[in-house]
Amino acid sequence: MKTYLVTGGAGFIGSNFVIYMLNKYNDVRIINIDSLTYAGNLENLKSVENNPNYEFIQVDICDKDAVNAIFEKNDIDYVVNFAAESHVDRSIENPEIFVQTNVLGTLTLLCAAKKAWSVGDDVYKDGVKYLQVSTDEVYGSLGPDGYFLETTPLDPHSPYSSSKASADLVVKAYFDTYKFPMNITRCSNNYGPFQFPEKLIPLMINNALSHKDLPIYGDGMQIRDWLFVEDHCKAIDMVIRDGKLGEVYNVGGHNERPNVKIVETIIDYIENNVDDSVGSHLIKYVEDRKGHDRRYGIAPDKIKKDLGWYPETTFEVGIQKTIKWYLDNRDWMQNVTSGEYQKYYEKMYSKK
Ligand code: NAD
Ligand code: TYD
Repeated sequence: MKTYLVTGGAGFIGSNFVIYMLNKYNDVRIINIDSLTYAGNLENLKSVENNPNYEFIQVDICDKDAVNAIFEKNDIDYVVNFAAESHVDRSIENPEIFVQTNVLGTLTLLCAAKKAWSVGDDVYKDGVKYLQVSTDEVYGSLGPDGYFLETTPLDPHSPYSSSKASADLVVKAYFDTYKFPMNITRCSNNYGPFQFPEKLIPLMINNALSHKDLPIYGDGMQIRDWLFVEDHCKAIDMVIRDGKLGEVYNVGGHNERPNVKIVETIIDYIENNVDDSVGSHLIKYVEDRKGHDRRYGIAPDKIKKDLGWYPETTFEVGIQKTIKWYLDNRDWMQNVTSGEYQKYYEKMYSKK
């Protein structure tokens, strides 16, 4: 039985990963550590909370003593680091916490794992691995042509993406300097259940259902490359099992869409299936995001060729599943949009 230390497992992708792994395998043990920021929600994990192979511990990844204690008490085989501040708009307002969690938190995990796994000078226990969950945003912005390859130079623009790029470089330094067993995955934009409604897709679904404005930044022609979250979870599972040590793997399904098309798809679904008073009159073009990246597009050739990964869910199927999930889980949406969210939303959108 392999033991996974999953960090940030109460957030969007982390909770999907914990559920994916426990549903797929009987012989994995998962310890989920999460500090439960505004983005962490144990309600996401209700379906697995009583699973004997699952344990939750509230821990900040920057807390060295607490992280070391977890490695001392448990025989950890793999670390999967999802824990992060993840929202670009928040990083523009308050960059400091992004460097704190995303860079220093990553370093804390690396130090603890290195200490626990070392069996000699730059020699580690058999089969252990640290996986850093990174993002395509570290590559910066593309023009109309071409794709991000693993060899594309890092050129991040936002405080969020620069903190993720910094973390990637620290992880790489651990491999180059100490032969520390690691991989990095760089995935495109995810969508699916349990995504916090500060991000484009759940925000638009929530606003449309409550007849609020649908705020599109700038001209709405920025392009993101969307991947259903389960396909990202599958990629992470495969990289942990079969990824060659020291390698970076890009993850994406060639699903590029301009933001305005995403919003129109959501409006059409809700108008035709839920509430015909929802329509494109709700769209409001607002001030653009500072430093807004124009286009992201991942070339996933390496993970396809080397590990046999491919995305299983088309955008047409995935977006319908996602909208239905939010419709069926309105209590979840209500819970996460009460409290801190209201203040955030008013601050973010009242000035636009
Ligand atoms: P999220 O914001 O939904 O969740 C982040 C989780 O980390 C939350 O549960 C939060 O409580 C926890 N956390 C934050 N600071 C912490 C700390 N100091 N200690 C412990 N836990 C802490 O984020 P997400 O969208 O699920 O993203 C997860 C990871 O995937 C991030 O590293 C992000 O950079 C990366 N990523 C996200 C996307 C995307 O489209 N969402 C795409 C590619 C990569
Ligand atoms: P987001 O979901 O924040 O992800 P990221 O910035 O990490 O790609 O935003 C996706 C795209 O949608 C991005 O180009 C910004 C845009 N956007 C809007 O136009 N309006 C919004 O209210 C939000 C949250 C995002």
